[in-house]
Amino acid sequence: MADKNPELMEKIISLAKRRGFVFPGSEVYGGLAGTWDYGPYGVALANNIKNLWWKRFVIEREDIYGIDAAILMNPKVWEASGHVAGFHDPLTEDLKTKKRYRADHILGDNGIDPTGMTPEKMSDAIREKGIKSPEGNPLGEVRQFNMMFKTHIGATEDETSISYLRPETAQGMFVNFKNLLDTLHPKLPFGMAQIGKAFRNEIAPGNFIFRLREFQQMEIEYFVHPNEWRNNFDTFLALQKDYLVNDLGLDEARIHQVEIAPEDRAHYSKHSVDTEFDFPIGQRELLGIAYRTDHDLKSHIETSSVDLTYYDEEKGERFIPHCIEPTFGFERLILAVLSNGYMEDEMNGEARTFLKLSPNVAPVKAAVFPLLKNKPELVAKAREVYQMLKKEILNIEFDDNGNIGKRYRRQDEIGTPYCVTIDFDTLGENPELKDTVTLRDRDTGEQKRVHINDLASLIKN
Ligand code: GAP
Repeated sequence: MADKNPELMEKIISLAKRRGFVFPGSEVYGGLAGTWDYGPYGVALANNIKNLWWKRFVIEREDIYGIDAAILMNPKVWEASGHVAGFHDPLTEDLKTKKRYRADHILGDNGIDPTGMTPEKMSDAIREKGIKSPEGNPLGEVRQFNMMFKTHIGATEDETSISYLRPETAQGMFVNFKNLLDTLHPKLPFGMAQIGKAFRNEIAPGNFIFRLREFQQMEIEYFVHPNEWRNNFDTFLALQKDYLVNDLGLDEARIHQVEIAPEDRAHYSKHSVDTEFDFPIGQRELLGIAYRTDHDLKSHIETSSVDLTYYDEEKGERFIPHCIEPTFGFERLILAVLSNGYMEDEMNGEARTFLKLSPNVAPVKAAVFPLLKNKPELVAKAREVYQMLKKEILNIEFDDNGNIGKRYRRQDEIGTPYCVTIDFDTLGENPELKDTVTLRDRDTGEQKRVHINDLASLIKN
């Protein structure tokens, strides 16, 4: 079990804001609980993480198709999926302050394992053990709280106009299953993939971007013959870890795959494994995989009366495919990458902070500096090198602000793997070093002299 490190979490939140990764949502109005905004480096980091996922799970495969469905869906979708009846968390209220808490969290904090407890059992446990709210006040009866955000479609606000912001991206794929069959005629096994927003009215959002009310998911619904679920489940479970370690550069020792007890699984799942990560808030869920059986397609057939079966021409067999769902909570990936990379050390006798990000995800791959800002010939050469690298590598930054030490510190804090400095030797002051630059390594601070012509391939590799 990973130790909790609230101080580290505060440092990460502070760096994320200071360097333009993540800002509190609606900050000028005091914020809005459970919402955060991405700044320029946050967007760049996010795009890298999404692109690696899309490349691995969609572009490089012949059997997974990308889609992008609407966030607002017909409310019958959420009746069929079971979310209207079953997507809730246990809630209890501080009877004095009226603040609301997750009852399972309150029990867990008081040493009681809430696994499998009904709301009635939770109420009993709170009463019997005399558990109070964090403010020390009595707590009310535990009841279920539906986490879907309700809204109204159109100008009339009554029961008939209710709709919901989607609480998972998954259903956008199930309702497009027939469209995919009819247009691309894929053969089983095949999958659909989607990256998009999801919304949950969490009772207690918090821990920075760990628990949000508005967040993003990257999900795959992979359809298989019912007899083939187990091997596909295990394959995707291994691929999830591979993506975390080899694409995002997370430390394997901080990743833990944990099978979920039947009583703790989502209402649609027959087998679930969560991948947990050692966050600064302890070992917590990062992403998951579930065997959703034919739950969703079957329910949509029953509710919509549309045929969502699959016909296997070779075997002459018609059936409802079963579904394996690898799901990735996007903001938790960002938090994992930031906490995995956050480092402090001493360099040249000074304390420094740096983000040891994999070059795969680093928002800026290299920064180019003129040694001095007020020497037009240095600036012109640095601009030339910058333009040359930008053409080949894209995410390259030009920086001539402040002194060189400050520029290094800034780039270290945003996780830039390399800094390139153009000095007088580059211009030929020492003829032997003409057209060479210094290339500084973020992690070691080591600098070596390399020829301009070798820069792009060195940085890329
Ligand atoms: N379609 C399946 C599904 O939605 P889930 O376990 O409820 O499953 C999937 O959510 C992932 O979404 C989680 O593993 C987590 O990473 C992320 N997630 C869920 N609720 C979240 C929240 N309130 N804030 C941020 N991420 C969340």
